[in-house]
Amino acid sequence: MRFLVTGTAGFIGFHLAKRLLGAGHVVVGLDGLTPYYDVTLKRARHAELERHNGFTAVIGMLEDTGAVAEAADLAQPDVIIHLAAQAGVRYSLENPKAYVDANLTGSWNILELARRIKPAHLLLASTSSVYGANAKIPFAETDRADEPMTLYAATKKSMEAMAHSYAHLYGVPTTAFRFFTVYGPWGRPDMALFKFVAAILEGAPIDIYGEGRMSRDFTYVDDLVEAVVRLTDCVPRIGAPVGPDGLDSLSPVAPFRVVNVAAGKPVGLMEFVETIEAAVGRPAQRHMLPMQAGDVPRTFAAAELLEALTQYRPSTPVAEGVPAFVAWYRAYYGV
Ligand SMILES: NC(=O)c1ccc[n+]([C@@H]2O[C@H](COP(=O)([O-])OP(=O)(O)OC[C@H]3O[C@@H](n4cnc5c(N)ncnc54)[C@H](O)[C@@H]3O)[C@@H](O)[C@H]2O)c1
Repeated sequence: MRFLVTGTAGFIGFHLAKRLLGAGHVVVGLDGLTPYYDVTLKRARHAELERHNGFTAVIGMLEDTGAVAEAADLAQPDVIIHLAAQAGVRYSLENPKAYVDANLTGSWNILELARRIKPAHLLLASTSSVYGANAKIPFAETDRADEPMTLYAATKKSMEAMAHSYAHLYGVPTTAFRFFTVYGPWGRPDMALFKFVAAILEGAPIDIYGEGRMSRDFTYVDDLVEAVVRLTDCVPRIGAPVGPDGLDSLSPVAPFRVVNVAAGKPVGLMEFVETIEAAVGRPAQRHMLPMQAGDVPRTFAAAELLEALTQYRPSTPVAEGVPAFVAWYRAYYGV
């Protein structure tokens, strides 16, 4: 099959594209190599992908309709997977415009593209952050998620809403994933695991927010990719929900659903830190701090819909996934 994947120089897009290429698919990747974090790492990911004949990179921004059209012309995609975004919860307090540009204008350009070229399935990356202040756990796709705590969450929720309206108006089957704290080799330098490992190896202190009382539903990246690949085959159709009544988030008026991609097994922050210390083989200097603005105390996914759709649920424990990240980090940076 032929795929257009946005964000292939990013952490998740890289792993997904590698998996698709390994299975013999053709992938055109659109990525603007934005300077939000180390661009060398993004280039290195693309260099890995370029070893496959089936891969072509288009370096361009989502906001640039010319670049989007160029990527689409090259790809002639059966499936579009839109992962490129301005990610990160905390940075949305510093640079809100980047979120509006990439996640609203950029995502709208992808919706317009899908309206024009009508792929068999459009899949979009949303986030657990859309659950915001939701106090009910686990977080289910059918829960109200109308109280975003950051502009990042607000732009992702808006993308879901825009995509629903396009699916209704123009009939392109659309799935929005809600990802939950993804981690693994080639990970993101702005995320806790990367920062903690770097600091411990340098002998620098690590900042632990929420006095360590937060928890996250971590997802190992290979598990996430497995779920995403399976979901590409689960094309939403109006009137064809899965599972028992009330489980599916399928829209009654559009071929559109949202799906949590997660294990549904939250891990406490201090257990996570201890797992990192064990994997690095050194204790961390722990610098305990209060919650930061915009942080939520915990994330906890209901994974039943994912399982009903794909017969799969992520299961790699942090005790396996964290050492895999540390091994990659040491090899990549030679430390
Ligand atoms: N990693 C996680 O834990 C997590 C959790 C929830 C949701 N997500 C979502 O998953 C997707 C992938 O995340 P990731 O962790 O791989 O992030 P990432 O930052 O590593 O990758 C995003 C990629 O998109 C590119 N990009 C950003 N803005 C762009 C623009 N305007 N035009 C073109 N390219 C642009 C960047 O250069 C980058 O390579 C994002 O949509 C993110 O919001 C990730």
